Amino acid sequence: MIEHAKIDYFTEEGSVDAVNARISGDTNGRLADVMRSLVTHLHAFIKDVEVTQEEWATAIDFLTRTGQICDDNRQEYILLSDVLGVSMLVDAINNRRPTGATENTVLGPFHVDGAPEYQMGASITQAGGRETCLFEGNVKDLDGNPVEGAKIDVWCDSEDGFYDVQQPGVQPRHNNRGVFTTGPDGRYWFRGIKPVSYPIPDDGPVGQLLTKLGRHPYRPAHMHFIVGAPGYDTVVTHTFVDGDPYLTSDAVFGVKRSLIVRYEPVTDGNTKWRAEYDFVLHRSE
Ligand code: BEZ
Ligand code: FE
Repeated sequence: MIEHAKIDYFTEEGSVDAVNARISGDTNGRLADVMRSLVTHLHAFIKDVEVTQEEWATAIDFLTRTGQICDDNRQEYILLSDVLGVSMLVDAINNRRPTGATENTVLGPFHVDGAPEYQMGASITQAGGRETCLFEGNVKDLDGNPVEGAKIDVWCDSEDGFYDVQQPGVQPRHNNRGVFTTGPDGRYWFRGIKPVSYPIPDDGPVGQLLTKLGRHPYRPAHMHFIVGAPGYDTVVTHTFVDGDPYLTSDAVFGVKRSLIVRYEPVTDGNTKWRAEYDFVLHRSE
């Protein structure tokens, strides 16, 4: 019989050790830790559900199609991370803030750098819309002091439920987006339209997965905000329209109770609604 050195060949029971033992001692420490944990949990998952060959081929096909539909405008992997609650979990872990500070939520794929900078009071809506709305409030610190020079970057969908970037040639560029800067009183106010609920892009593998799971693709109506000022943590968030039927079943799990805002009907010239919300910033460490 041939004498072999003692080597741990791959076995079902020893699968995790077999793979993790190959990580070289020179590997970056964080990468080694992350990969060891990934292999441990991935193998535990495969063992838990006892994946069949056919199921594994289906999973590989799903991931292949997810990659194939991605381009400069479509990021199906982010969408997959969103509908699995992973985007919100990563966001929560990386944006822990003291009580009272405005909470974060997902950025989403429809933010655009370089939106027009407007004076306070301007309208971000270029293409009209019946449900006109005044958005207003304060940017303050945790002690209630106004934050001067805060940049407020806002964007929302049209009354048909599409962002400008989803309808080039239909909506004007930068429709329903804009950037405002607070003065010494920390106040902001601008005009726009009341956002509406809309489906996330569901004509790809992620949409098919949602259908198979009996889930709908809708997000409750929301206005996106990025609020930042020198010396403070930048808040990436939305405010949600109170009463929206999808608040408790957001396809991407983005809703937090503190971000739900009452839209109050008003009779003020052309404005039909008013949505007031104060942003509370936390000093960066
Ligand atoms: C959004 O709110 O714009 C969004 C977020 C996650 C996935 C798709 C859209
Ligand atoms: Fe959105």
